[in-house]
Amino acid sequence: MIVTTKKLFEAAYGKYAIGAYNINNLEQTMGLFRGNLMSKAPFIIQISKGSRDYTDKEMLQSLIIAADKVFPEAVFAVHLDHGDEETCYDCINSGFYSSVMIDASHLSFDENIATTKRVVEAAHAKGLVVEAELGQLGGVEEHIQVSEDEARLTNPAQAKEFVQRSGCDSLAVAIGTSHGAFKFSGSQSLHFDVLAEIQKQLLGFPLVMHGSSSVPQDEVERINKAGGKIQGARGVDANQFKRAAELGVTKINIDTDGRLVWTRVHREYFMEHPEVFDFRKPGKVFMDEYAKFIANKNEFLGSAGNLDEVRKLVS
Ligand code: G3H
Ligand code: 13P
Ligand code: ZN
Repeated sequence: MIVTTKKLFEAAYGKYAIGAYNINNLEQTMGLFRGNLMSKAPFIIQISKGSRDYTDKEMLQSLIIAADKVFPEAVFAVHLDHGDEETCYDCINSGFYSSVMIDASHLSFDENIATTKRVVEAAHAKGLVVEAELGQLGGVEEHIQVSEDEARLTNPAQAKEFVQRSGCDSLAVAIGTSHGAFKFSGSQSLHFDVLAEIQKQLLGFPLVMHGSSSVPQDEVERINKAGGKIQGARGVDANQFKRAAELGVTKINIDTDGRLVWTRVHREYFMEHPEVFDFRKPGKVFMDEYAKFIANKNEFLGSAGNLDEVRKLVS
């Protein structure tokens, strides 16, 4: 059942975080639904601009509609990840999405507010909610590059003003995470002091943590052993998710970890079975492994086990 992101946030706020997982293809979609049902968790499907262009935006939409029929027990929202203004309007007008993210965090404070406000007006008119971003994460976003040195944490006082003036419904905050597999060069640090201050300024308002993959070291080692070259990859400690949720983080974005599962499964499979060229064989292994990965992640997020309660709240 596709539901509004707003309802999921109301159910989760202060108690647990909803996993927001990016998808690009059929195998990820299958693993995602199965993993969330295995762990009885509500979830958010994220679609990036890159995934809309990977095949055709209609293909992804149809895959999700089909998955909703195949897995009628699932409760989830569909969200545009890191949208620019034009893509936000396209999603808002599609009648399919539950929510959009307008990422104008690279603009000045006032321009970010103005852009977000335009998207909020269009989205609210159609019953969608809007995530905005204030502060900049280190690492690489789809169309925006921010070096580690320039990464700016979210200013808590500005966060309150930003939300009031833009009218956004949730806020992605920069508290030390970054996108991709190389998040920390020194010791890992989430800035819980900054997060606590943001929550104080915005009590009851859903916050979002991007760049939250854990980049498991055993996964990286297996990939490298099977011919990969991913050196020095490091991620966020998933044990920190529950503390973040208590401080108002209601949505946690995870994409890179899923790509690592895919890479490990396929590298190992073809190394161990050099004679195989039927891609469905590793594809099946991937769907199983991805489902297990999602179910495990939901335990750390605290979303596991909440499906029945959320279903009651939304129906
Ligand atoms: O933050 C970006 C997400 O991981 C989506 O990645 O733009 O390569 O689809 P993508
Ligand atoms: P990761 O690269 O840590 O998976 O972050 C994904 C993300 O923030 C998507 O918006
Ligand atoms: Zn992101």
